[in-house]
Amino acid sequence: MRPSLAPSILSCDPSDFRAPVAEMMAAGADWIHFDVMDGQFVPPITFGAGLVKSLRPLGSTRFEAHLMTLTPERHFEAFLQAGCQRITFHAETTPHANRLAQQLHDAGCEAGVAINPGTPVEMLYPLVDVIDVALVMTVNPGWGGQELVSASVEKVRQLRDRAPGLEIEVDGGVDPSTIGMLWDAGATTFVTGSFLVRGGRIAENMKELREACASKS
Ligand code: DX5
Ligand code: ZN
Repeated sequence: MRPSLAPSILSCDPSDFRAPVAEMMAAGADWIHFDVMDGQFVPPITFGAGLVKSLRPLGSTRFEAHLMTLTPERHFEAFLQAGCQRITFHAETTPHANRLAQQLHDAGCEAGVAINPGTPVEMLYPLVDVIDVALVMTVNPGWGGQELVSASVEKVRQLRDRAPGLEIEVDGGVDPSTIGMLWDAGATTFVTGSFLVRGGRIAENMKELREACASKS
């Protein structure tokens, strides 16, 4: 099995998302990861569905929206309409994660649930059979370029033991020095933002991440 890479646009120059997203697609990204922040669940505010819609014509690479927002029930439809194939919401933002996952499936979309570094991994256990991906945050959400929270690695390992077949995505602090350890712990999908755009070498940086994983397999 090969690792899936989900480049985040959060660290791209906001004056031109088109060029880096086209590069990510050409370099074989498995997903384009959109970090949607509402200024409530996390302090920053990033962008809405309009940006996602404007980038959809660039190619067929799947789009996933990472909703770092309160009331995800009110927001997911706009991102679906904008061309996302997967919506990931935070378990901390709704008392009805199971119902929302079903709603996403009913709408023809993959459903992901994310947990913050301070949230027990057990919060995902009742959901592993109704979601397509669990997103284990490896940084505190809100910003790119942060150091990986090492306690999150054990959460990945526990979740993998609990759900052998589940796609587990990690998000934050992923670079060639951390991806191997996360892969070993059982993560299969890797969001990468600041490392990926470093030096404007998107294709080379993606290749380096894949090689860093392969060397641990
Ligand atoms: C943080 C976002 C992450 C972030 C990852 O809240 O969810 O997707 O962009 O950025 P890096 O790879 O720079 O840690
Ligand atoms: Zn994210």
